Amino acid sequence: MKILHLVFHPDLNASRVNNTWKKQLEQSGKVATSRDMYLEYPDFKIDIEKEQALLLSHDRIVIQFPIYWWSMTPLLKKWLDDVLQYQFAYGSKGDKLKGKDLQIICSAGGQAKNYNGFHMFATVPEVLKPFQLTANLAKMNYSQPLYMFNADACGEDEVVKYGQKWVEVIDDPRRADGLEYANAKIHEELIDVYAQLGL
Ligand SMILES: Cc1cc2nc3c(=O)[nH]c(=O)nc-3n(C[C@H](O)[C@H](O)[C@H](O)COP(=O)(O)O)c2cc1C
Repeated sequence: MKILHLVFHPDLNASRVNNTWKKQLEQSGKVATSRDMYLEYPDFKIDIEKEQALLLSHDRIVIQFPIYWWSMTPLLKKWLDDVLQYQFAYGSKGDKLKGKDLQIICSAGGQAKNYNGFHMFATVPEVLKPFQLTANLAKMNYSQPLYMFNADACGEDEVVKYGQKWVEVIDDPRRADGLEYANAKIHEELIDVYAQLGL
């Protein structure tokens, strides 16, 4: 499986979380191509042909970013608008991304207890709904998003621990099917629980 890793952080050098994760994923050797997209396009002038060619030459597209204002960072929005064109990503002949996997990785400054889907807060999968809908339109496999909360205040070890988790699962072929993956994980966790109970 050939993995394309696109990181959309406005200033990766000033980033703690996303920079650490990018390095961990790069160093894992599991990612074929890893790119700092703001470094690539500081003027927001996206090379559409190049981006489309990269999408075509990889199987799993991993998009990583910090959540800003319950949304994606601006270059990522521009990248979606520019690159996922009619008759490329959608339309009568627009099936070029069909069957590829879309994996989102993101960090949120808010705390888990607040991301409860109630009052002022949505859940992270709700915030990421546009990506799920985009994957649906492009006939891509939308994988369960990977994310962490409390990204500004948590300790360095926590950031690294999450990065290790991402490295562990990033090339898991089962993630192509979100439901199958969730079922398999629940099954594994139940086996653990039963083992702990001595059953
Ligand atoms: C402009 C801006 C908007 C933000 N909006 C949100 C938000 O809506 N929800 C949230 O949980 N965190 C928000 N944050 C916190 C970021 O998600 C957090 O700083 C980031 O995930 C940390 O990652 P980094 O160390 O890679 O920069 C915001 C941060 C900035 C700078």
